[in-house]
Amino acid sequence: MRQQVIAVGKRYARFATRVAVSHPRLWPLVRAPLRWNFDYIAPMWDACRAGGDTRPLDAIAASFGREPRRILDLGTGTGFAARHLAGLFPHAEIVGADLSPAMLDEARRVTPQPQIRYEEADAAKLPHGDGVFDLVVLVNMIPFARELARVTAEDGAVGIVFSGGAGTPIYAPPEQLRRALAGAGFRSVEELDTGEPITLLARR
Ligand SMILES: C[S@@+](CC[C@H](N)C(=O)[O-])C[C@H]1O[C@@H](n2cnc3c(N)ncnc32)[C@H](O)[C@@H]1O
Repeated sequence: MRQQVIAVGKRYARFATRVAVSHPRLWPLVRAPLRWNFDYIAPMWDACRAGGDTRPLDAIAASFGREPRRILDLGTGTGFAARHLAGLFPHAEIVGADLSPAMLDEARRVTPQPQIRYEEADAAKLPHGDGVFDLVVLVNMIPFARELARVTAEDGAVGIVFSGGAGTPIYAPPEQLRRALAGAGFRSVEELDTGEPITLLARR
């Protein structure tokens, strides 16, 4: 039964991502079941998530090329990316934001670093001010291009990772993302060489 729920959840996540990226205004219609799905899966997430490949995060950090002061890990789940980035940037202030309270409970339970703060937020309408983050990272998370552009600093960047390549349940084709990000005001989008994971770095 549990495996069936997880399988249906993956298919729904792919559907909801397609809706949100192509028609962001329809996001409120698909949001509640997605949140329920991630609340359900939260206690099992670390066992389910496909390994701990840090190559995309390392590549994003290297290409970003300087020490970010404030980082947002959007769709943080149980905080995998937030914790890895805290190791790379020990002086940065890091916010891990997620729609799912149960994911955030897990993240808080397994995160020792005090530089990371977790908060409930919807990426489609973030509670943060304009340009407050130097670096925003999304690992297997739906990109809402306009909100990403709004909260990223003028000289900042957004790293987007699909850890299982095109087979990742939450996935948007790079070409579609390039168009959406350019339309939202990002001046460049480069694809980083990270093997199977697809990794994009978009600069404001
Ligand atoms: C596939 S999981 C990835 C979690 C984490 N980044 C990782 O790699 O382990 C996607 C996460 O994004 C969150 N999420 C989905 N839509 C969101 C939204 N609109 N705003 C904030 N979080 C969202 C889900 O609750 C879930 O925790």
